[in-house]
Amino acid sequence: MGQVLGGDSVVTAAGADHVRKRRQLQPAFRHAEISRYVDLMRDQATQTTTDWKPGRVIDVRETMTKMSLDVLAATVFASSLDEQAFQQLQRHLSTVLNGAGSRIMLPDWAERLPLPANRRFNTSRAAVRAIITDAVDGLRASEHNTGDMLSQLLRAEDETTGQPVTAHQVCSEILTLAVAGTETTGSVLSWILHELSRNPETDQRLQTELSDVLEDRPVTFEDLPRLTFLRNVITEALRLHHTGWLVTRRTLTPIRLGHWDIPADTELAYCQHALHRDPTLFPDPLRFDPDRWLDESWKTSLPDGAFLPFGAGKHKCIGDHFAMTEIATALTTITRSWRLTPAPDQKVRPIARATVRPSTLLMTASPRP
Ligand code: HEM
Repeated sequence: MGQVLGGDSVVTAAGADHVRKRRQLQPAFRHAEISRYVDLMRDQATQTTTDWKPGRVIDVRETMTKMSLDVLAATVFASSLDEQAFQQLQRHLSTVLNGAGSRIMLPDWAERLPLPANRRFNTSRAAVRAIITDAVDGLRASEHNTGDMLSQLLRAEDETTGQPVTAHQVCSEILTLAVAGTETTGSVLSWILHELSRNPETDQRLQTELSDVLEDRPVTFEDLPRLTFLRNVITEALRLHHTGWLVTRRTLTPIRLGHWDIPADTELAYCQHALHRDPTLFPDPLRFDPDRWLDESWKTSLPDGAFLPFGAGKHKCIGDHFAMTEIATALTTITRSWRLTPAPDQKVRPIARATVRPSTLLMTASPRP
């Protein structure tokens, strides 16, 4: 992962270095900042559906992943780049994302093979770095605060040296956010649209809540806490269709875990997807049931670590609030205008790539009356 992202980003750092990098990134994910991003998120969701027509078949997984990348691009660097650079960066990031999953999984020698996929990946990653470095130089020279995440990152300092973050690290962090925040969010959105299409009653209850709370207004940040059924739908999707199939940790000291004595320096992995389908924790685990989250006493009775949609500990997802806000805003905006029904004879199954995602998800769009 270090080689893919550049080796100096928050996700591959450890110990004090990780703490320092995480603090530099944190201001961009504060509550006040997320609330500013909602308008951009809603605009991107609206734009995603502008060319939908009644009866048109949509590749939902591809469309949702592309929308998540567009949201990220709009919030991270849209204000800092001119239109041409912005579009180039989006295109190259998309190529990097398509190749990142296999790069992370394959041994290092595989990425040195002279294959067209490797050449495309390397060219695009170099282009991403060149465009961001140019933007960093320009922003630093002008001392202009454009209000996006890139601009925020540039104001961060290295705690120990007092020096500003290097352009190389800024590029690595942006690649990290794109890899960590695009396919994950896109997959969860796809699974929710799939579940809504198979559960008409859930779909109807969601529409009733949206009409009651929003009437005819577009959704705003202030509305989100009142959309409680929507929140339970998203939480249930993060349980049943979690995108993580392996999260790893290395032990620093010997530790006893259940019946096992584990020595220091052992590589451990756990699978959220399996954890969230454990029937001893989640009765009838394969049923998509947003109402299970209504029962407060059941929720508080869950043991620590039983439900880990965004991981836990020092490397817990920094984008959890951002992701929940994006998913809620996009779902509200899309489903109020469009109903998606499964294409005939399609068997949707989960496959493990960079994330656990639907194999294919083709759906037919029809306007809501
Ligand atoms: C539904 C969507 C998402 C899910 C399910 C998810 C899940 C996770 C999980 C489980 C981890 C922890 C990995 C570990 O423990 O080692 C993680 C880390 C991370 N996520 Fe997310 N994520 C999502 C969206 C996002 C978004 C939108 C962003 C950024 C815009 C983001 C940025 C990150 C970063 C930077 C890390 C590494 C944090 C660190 O190492 O300190 N994620 N994510």
